[in-house]
Amino acid sequence: MTHVVCPGSFDPPTLGHLDVIGRAAGLFDRVTVAVLVNPDKKGLFPVDERMDLLRAVTGGWPNVDVDSFHGLLVDYCSGAGIGAIVKGLRAVSDFDYELQMAQMNHGLTGVDTMFLPTSPAYSFVSSSLVKQVAAYGGDVSHLLPDVVAAALAGKTGTGDHRAGRSA
Ligand code: PNS
Repeated sequence: MTHVVCPGSFDPPTLGHLDVIGRAAGLFDRVTVAVLVNPDKKGLFPVDERMDLLRAVTGGWPNVDVDSFHGLLVDYCSGAGIGAIVKGLRAVSDFDYELQMAQMNHGLTGVDTMFLPTSPAYSFVSSSLVKQVAAYGGDVSHLLPDVVAAALAGKTGTGDHRAGRSA
């Protein structure tokens, strides 16, 4: 069985994340979406909320589960019996750092990283940009799963811009 991890901060999860997770779910037997618990970075959404949102938006894929981890990703992979890391690449600018991390992780424990190119529709989407635009009242709801857009609107108080939406 091929068990992979999609790691990240997911503060909050975007449609770009979901695109990569869904495609990984189609390629591998089991996908664990693992949220980094970073004591140095509080984030807008507490880790538990991010996990709840991720569970809500990945519920349609029976081979996807959600977890959190502290410390090194390679140690989490070893402990959970995970064979590979799956990362999305939005643009060439992502590649430099992702390659460094992939090589470091491989050097540490031999775990491999596989890259999936993000769908072009989401190549400019990041959680930090989405939060920044939402904080100033911009509409980012088309870049987020509905449940996440509603949760972000609740945090930023900017309202939910999509007409007729309740969740
Ligand atoms: O969504 P992000 O913030 O881009 O995700 C980055 C993440 C969590 C995948 C990366 O920072 C990570 O793996 N952190 C865990 C600590 C670690 O293993 N660091 C060494 C990387 S070579």
